[in-house]
Amino acid sequence: MDSIRIRGGRPLNGVIPISGAKNAALPLMAATLLTADTLTLLNLPHLVDITTMANLLASHGVFMHMNGNAKAQGCGGRVLELTTRDITNTTAHYDLVRKMRASILVLGPILARMGQARVSLPGGCAIGARPVDLHLKALEQMGAVIGIDGGYVDARVEGRLKGAHLVFPQVTVTGTENLLMAATLAEGETIIDNAAREPEVADLANCLVAMGAEISGIGSSRLVVQGKESLHGATHSVLPDRIEAGSYAVAAAITRGRVLLQHADATHMAALIKVLIAAGVEVTVQEDGILVDAAGRTLKGVDVMTEPHPGFPTDMQAQVMALFATAEGASMMTETIFENRFMHVPELKRMGANINIHNNSAIVRGVDALSGAPVMATDLRASMSLVLAALAATGETTIARVYHLDRGYERLEQKLAACGAEIERLRD
Ligand code: EPZ
Repeated sequence: MDSIRIRGGRPLNGVIPISGAKNAALPLMAATLLTADTLTLLNLPHLVDITTMANLLASHGVFMHMNGNAKAQGCGGRVLELTTRDITNTTAHYDLVRKMRASILVLGPILARMGQARVSLPGGCAIGARPVDLHLKALEQMGAVIGIDGGYVDARVEGRLKGAHLVFPQVTVTGTENLLMAATLAEGETIIDNAAREPEVADLANCLVAMGAEISGIGSSRLVVQGKESLHGATHSVLPDRIEAGSYAVAAAITRGRVLLQHADATHMAALIKVLIAAGVEVTVQEDGILVDAAGRTLKGVDVMTEPHPGFPTDMQAQVMALFATAEGASMMTETIFENRFMHVPELKRMGANINIHNNSAIVRGVDALSGAPVMATDLRASMSLVLAALAATGETTIARVYHLDRGYERLEQKLAACGAEIERLRD
């Protein structure tokens, strides 16, 4: 398994191009299952999770053509054409689903288009049990008969799904996306209350509208969908990845450098930007991105609580904790979304961080400097937290199991090295 070696202590300076958002691209790819026409996605990031989703879709009969000359299309990222003339297989097998939880996103579209779907339960993951009960209860409310057998969700519906008034008891991002896609082909009107407001949900909704869906309330916690008999093809550009952008904003801040996050959309990152500014980082929104400047600045810890969007994103908690481990003063960081999302803490402590966990809160007291050490990645965002700590630490850090990073960060070493980081991948 590959590892990454970093020699820290150098401020980052330069430009980092932000790629298309992983958590938008995955549901957008699943949307192809809703139509027999071609869906063309622009600005697709090159990530392991995207390849995993492509392999899963291929098992359902989706034809895909990767059109590499993105430049010709005037966009970054890659161009992927997806065509599902027929769904030739309605079963999503365990060996594919176990690689990526977001595979559950094929359930709604296949059930809506075929009247049946058999999808392996994704199982837990490092950061928590992550059940899909809310997805299933909502589909049952739309008329699906759902059973669980042999670790698979078996869903069927006579005729079409029926529109319903759905109220999610807690915000679920992929739950909202699954039901939104199912509702576009249902009979009648579906209301989704307490819908997730993450920008990636709005990006999916905008793409579905371009495909002929009728959706109102996009960006709000109440989505109203008028079901259609069918959807048609469209071309849609994946929005910039706010978590990748936020992660590199922290890279600039933790190294006391100055970096332009090219293509980043500040309107999707308000809660994070507010925290960075309160910590003493200068953040300037520009025409072509966001300039993050911490050169020569003294930073201080700020209290943070993760919440559904537009609150502070749970996917940025580990990264910002690394920053506060090197800032002045103390910060209390409370994780309200997942039950086990502090696995970066023991690794940060190996690097000299002063962090104490009390239930779902961590008290982070800044230290003068972290020191490089051999550490282990455990999940995607925890891995990035270790990269960020290593960039600031004195000496050398080797991070093992970096396959976690490859799931969500495109060309990580290249983007950081271009700004002066001493970083290399060790292949073994
Ligand atoms: C999405 O996961 C993201 N993944 C996650 O990003 C992100 O951390 C999460 O939303 C929260 O923002 C994708 O979009 C592909 P949830 P998702 O359903 O949809 C509980 C990353 O790093 N819940 O919003 O799986 C659940 O256990 C990944 O890119 C139920 O109890 O998250 C959690 O505690 C990590 N039952 C909370 O709700 C359900 O049926 C929020 O989960 C569904 C969720």
